[in-house]
Amino acid sequence: MRKVMETVVQFIPDKHPDPLMRKHGYIGKPLRRVDGPLKVKGEARFTAEFDIEDVAYAALVHSTIAKGRVTRIDASEAKRMPGFIAIVTHENAPKMKNPKLLNVMDLAQGVGGSDLPILQDDKVHYDGEPVAIVVAETLEQAEHAAWLVRVEYEAETQSVSFDALKEKAVVPSDVLGEEPTVKLGDADKALSEAAFKVDHVYRTPRHNHNAIEPHATIASWGDDGNLTVFDSTQFVNGFKHQLATVFSLKPKQVRVISPFVGGAFGGKWSLWCNSVLCAAAAKVTERPVKLALSREGVFRVVGGRTLSEQRVALAAGKDGRFLGLIHTGTTATTTHANYPEQFSLTPRHLYASENMFAGQKIVNLDTVANTWMRAPGESIATFALESAIDELAHAMKMDPIALRRINEPQKDPTKDTEFSMRNLVEAYPRGADRFGWSRRNPEPRSQREGAWLIGQGVATAYYPFFRWPATVRVRISSDGTAIVQAAAHEMGMGTATVQIQHAAERLGLPVDKVSFHYGDSALPDSPITAGGSSQTVTIVAAVQLAVEKAHRELLKLAHRNGDSPLAGARYERIEARDGGLFRTDEAKGETYSAILRRARQAFIEVEKSTGQAMEIMKYSMASYGAQFCEARVNEETGEVRLSRWLGSFDCGRIVNPKTAASQFRGGIIMGIGMALTEETMFDERRGRIMNRSLAEYHVPVHLDVPPIEIIYNDIPDEHAPLGARGLGEIGITGAAAAIANAIFHATGKRVRDLPITLDKLL
Ligand code: MOS
Repeated sequence: MRKVMETVVQFIPDKHPDPLMRKHGYIGKPLRRVDGPLKVKGEARFTAEFDIEDVAYAALVHSTIAKGRVTRIDASEAKRMPGFIAIVTHENAPKMKNPKLLNVMDLAQGVGGSDLPILQDDKVHYDGEPVAIVVAETLEQAEHAAWLVRVEYEAETQSVSFDALKEKAVVPSDVLGEEPTVKLGDADKALSEAAFKVDHVYRTPRHNHNAIEPHATIASWGDDGNLTVFDSTQFVNGFKHQLATVFSLKPKQVRVISPFVGGAFGGKWSLWCNSVLCAAAAKVTERPVKLALSREGVFRVVGGRTLSEQRVALAAGKDGRFLGLIHTGTTATTTHANYPEQFSLTPRHLYASENMFAGQKIVNLDTVANTWMRAPGESIATFALESAIDELAHAMKMDPIALRRINEPQKDPTKDTEFSMRNLVEAYPRGADRFGWSRRNPEPRSQREGAWLIGQGVATAYYPFFRWPATVRVRISSDGTAIVQAAAHEMGMGTATVQIQHAAERLGLPVDKVSFHYGDSALPDSPITAGGSSQTVTIVAAVQLAVEKAHRELLKLAHRNGDSPLAGARYERIEARDGGLFRTDEAKGETYSAILRRARQAFIEVEKSTGQAMEIMKYSMASYGAQFCEARVNEETGEVRLSRWLGSFDCGRIVNPKTAASQFRGGIIMGIGMALTEETMFDERRGRIMNRSLAEYHVPVHLDVPPIEIIYNDIPDEHAPLGARGLGEIGITGAAAAIANAIFHATGKRVRDLPITLDKLL
């Protein structure tokens, strides 16, 4: 892949209270991943790799009906197998409370993937629901014994057909804490009167989580009744609180450890039943137990993305101005997840339209609970909305970028607040220039090379800004090193690297003198870190406060001694550099080591917490981007090949261009999968996922991915910590629409039903 990174516009607010908004140093440098060598050498330990003495292995027995009850479990044959230790079913499971679903008012309680009871009764709620967990001395013995367990059921009438139920879809009580429906003016009327309009239905299929590391847990109970869990989670504190709820423990009796996670994408955010079952099995057997899900196991017990059916209707005047925007639709969830996938939030913030109607409905199915998946809501919403805009542009014979520009809002269309900073109109021409958009002949089917039809498409990327309260601890030692501790997560995105860059810059220390401890619930508790593309700023904001507190305390130590060059200096007149604190009025100061040694202290340690992100209440905050792609479609075979990609992003300041570009690319690759290959095949007779493997569930491979060029506006957002907004999820947004639009341009065929497989193009 070509590496093109550009840093162009630099607007640094000079009155900003944080000096790091104006100072670069390590910020903005493409530092290499601090854990790169560990990973390359295979020394980075992932959950299933922890060596625990006396560990036993577990395997699950999954229900083969979608609804009903278990009438008989015959484990007699399994029990005779070598190595068999125990089987836990609803008949002998320990008493466990149900996990709790997300409560937007109390995020600190963590999130259950579902709030179903786990092995507490004979009821079955979805195909694949575990009905037993078998423990044996080895993995093979556990799997073999589980295979021999015979389960009998009494099936009840199941609701698993989305199409059969969608007419009866209902409006959910809320959509992630927002009103399920918003209405401005009268969009229907605008649609009936407009000079130009498009009105279509777009469909996206179910998707399943396929992180490189399947979900794994090792659970062990201490003699003190405390529970220690190694888990591949992206939410150690959420797991701590949820497991405490389930096992009726105090949160401090539970420790969750997760130093490295092999990708999560939202699938490891909620506590799923596998982690609970592993802890239950450990309790029953009084042994540490390891439960590493197979790829198939992840498909069965971990939810994925809902399917969706979305209607987008756009009405425009002759000048292209939107007179009406309707974006509605239906998704599937379950009564035990209550998660509508917030696609209708996207249109509320993207375009100016006097008349708007955005809202969504749900149907409840008897399936595994659906869940978050990278840019949940926005990725499917942008497919529908950004396809519709392309359709309208084509109908009006207008350039799709010009049409978007005309409808660029001056303030948030539904929140009615100012944007903290929105430079999408900068990202578009920069991307267009670099991609060569102006050379494109807008006529569909106007470019070909032999059997290959060639087209270019564009779409807007959008992901909202989040920042959560967080607590961090900072220790500065007399040997001139510092440690930052936070219950944060490394799922491969470069968390430790970026946090070290920031902390080192703020402390005035070299990066190799700063360490970052994370991935352990014993570290300071934060409600959410790795969710909503928010981790970098969530931790940065708390580190900023903690470092300030540490500096004030160090200054106090210095004041106690008249010999210190810092004696009498005010906090406002010092800066951190060269391993210590220096006066800004005169060139003198001293190192942390000198201050601490004189005070005869080995270190100073402080802890600080941030509160709610006030900036989100005050402003409309989001990351933006423009996705450009070129697709080649073989006229004879319908095969699609992407030949070029350029993403031009507007995500505030970029803290590390190397890890940022990887995040953007990763998101775009997921978007390519969404557009062209990914589809969970669901058997509506059984309520069962049929393609439970990577052989049949197709994610993009190297050959599917064109060179991806990444550029960005590097404009600090003065209302975001360090000027940075999120970039973990935005890459997937707009990507599927850009591809659908390029395919339309190449072939003249509009596909509104993902994935765009070759049968739809022939
Ligand atoms: Mo993300 S779906 O917020 O892990």
